[in-house]
Amino acid sequence: MKHSALHTASYDASSLELDLDALRKQFPILTRTMRGKRFSYLDNGATSLKPEAVIAAESRYYTELSANIHRGVYEFSEQATVEYDGAREKVARFIGADRNGSVIFTKSTTESVNVVAYGWVRKYLGPGDELVTTEIEHHANLIPWQEACKAVGARLRFIPVNPDGSLQLESLEDVIGERTKLVAITAMSNVTGYMPDLERIIGLAHARGARVLVDGAQYVSHHPINVAELGCDFLVFSGHKMCGPTGIGVLYGKNDVLEAMDPLIYGGDMVSKVKRDEASYKPVPDKFEGGTPNIAGAIALGAAVDFLAEVGMQRILEHERSLLEYLVERASRVDELVSYGPDDLSVRGGIFSFNYGDVHPHDAGALLDQEGVAVRTGFHCAQPLMKVFGVTGTVRASVYLYNTTDDIDALIDGLARIKDVFG
Ligand SMILES: Cc1ncc(COP(=O)(O)O)c(C=O)c1O
Repeated sequence: MKHSALHTASYDASSLELDLDALRKQFPILTRTMRGKRFSYLDNGATSLKPEAVIAAESRYYTELSANIHRGVYEFSEQATVEYDGAREKVARFIGADRNGSVIFTKSTTESVNVVAYGWVRKYLGPGDELVTTEIEHHANLIPWQEACKAVGARLRFIPVNPDGSLQLESLEDVIGERTKLVAITAMSNVTGYMPDLERIIGLAHARGARVLVDGAQYVSHHPINVAELGCDFLVFSGHKMCGPTGIGVLYGKNDVLEAMDPLIYGGDMVSKVKRDEASYKPVPDKFEGGTPNIAGAIALGAAVDFLAEVGMQRILEHERSLLEYLVERASRVDELVSYGPDDLSVRGGIFSFNYGDVHPHDAGALLDQEGVAVRTGFHCAQPLMKVFGVTGTVRASVYLYNTTDDIDALIDGLARIKDVFG
């Protein structure tokens, strides 16, 4: 595996500066142009770019091992098993899991939420019970709860939201009560970057006897996290947003909760004994990983967390903070730009959603594409939050470790071009 440029970058442990030149060389796609212009990738909220080390890890599995896990008695299968289980340990370390919790591989955040919705909510909630969530969630952390609550007759409740997309935490005590069984909340909004005070929410939920699921799809890739300290019962996230491949996601859960849950997928590899009319299942995590898993994806996710850990999550966080400040400052000087999210940047990650005059977000995105700038446009799988803002969509720019102020400049300069076209 070649990641020489990263190794030659001198990471002084006391410095929070990223060596951007060396870092950017790790991402082969950054050598490409888009529409003949410098490629400014500002769609990291949708998915991240992949470093050479991750691409190499995925490819190496297919070129050197290509064997199924947990089944073979031959060398390559044993090695694939060791690497797959090793990736699980790397991910567990990366999120600070202790021996009271386990990492289960799924295909995505969406699947991880569904595992809990089917295996826990539908099993343990009934009429009179309540599941608390918010209107700032990605649909992946809303629709599975809507359906599960409908199926069992439980009530879905919402922590009230402010007009800027932050939550009214002063209302927490009114919403999270004795009937609350689960609080499902994002750690970072994919529309505004807003990060609710999770410690406060988890503290109250636990005091009321409720479990807490944290949607870390946006957060885990950008912030250091320690689930053992945070105390959440579940954490869900996706590999593809954190320099890893698509098709691999994580469900972290506390062991006692996972043991008491039913799997979503039944079949091979998750069973301990099968008779004609019934079967018993392996312990956690295997019971949740029926069928041949995404072995290459898991191994490559292991490489992704190695990569992120080596760069340093605190360093990534500081870099993105300075990019967000720069973006907000430059955007504040653009007439007719309306942005969404709390003014207090200390509660926000590197996401900036906006509209420009009455230009439709898709038109703005298409013109930015002509300038080599990749942004996301639309309702961002968060229609209830769009309703709060009174819009049908926004343009979203989201940064990651390899972005520079040049990318932000390209975005802001691109807006001038939109002005030329739309007047
Ligand atoms: C906050 C949040 N939750 C959940 C998801 C769903 O992730 P995936 O599509 O990888 O399942 C996303 C994806 O954008 C997200 O931003």
